Amino acid sequence: MLRLAPLLALLAAPAAAGALPPLDRAAELEHLVRQDCGACHGMTLAGGLGPDIRPAALAALDRTALVSVILDGRPGTAMPPWRPLLSEAEAAWIAEYLRTGDAP
Ligand code: HEC
Repeated sequence: MLRLAPLLALLAAPAAAGALPPLDRAAELEHLVRQDCGACHGMTLAGGLGPDIRPAALAALDRTALVSVILDGRPGTAMPPWRPLLSEAEAAWIAEYLRTGDAP
């Protein structure tokens, strides 16, 4: 239950702004993480062209840093910006998905 607290806080915040991705969008986002992020970070997200992005590997990044890497990429590296495809709420959902270890 304690582990769910940040996720619940996250879900509450964008909901107030009306930006929470609908539930069916969550399934699409999970698919995107496995397929598109997995293309570089490995099917199990343990690393490939891109580094390991499983929870232990991301411990040093706080949620804001993580959301910003997802939205803006890492200029000068192969990590692309996802801002054209994802809203901030969706990037926040993915960040939490990666951080809480709900990843494959
Ligand atoms: C075209 C290849 C590619 C794709 C697709 C890609 N990444 Fe990356 N990603 C990279 C590379 C390369 C790095 C390392 C950048 C660097 O050197 O700092 C990286 C870095 C990251 C980091 C920072 C890791 C750290 O420890 O600093 C995160 C988080 C991340 N990617 C998440 C994602 C997510 C989420 C997706 C899908 C929405 C994604 N990436 C898609 C190549 C990719």
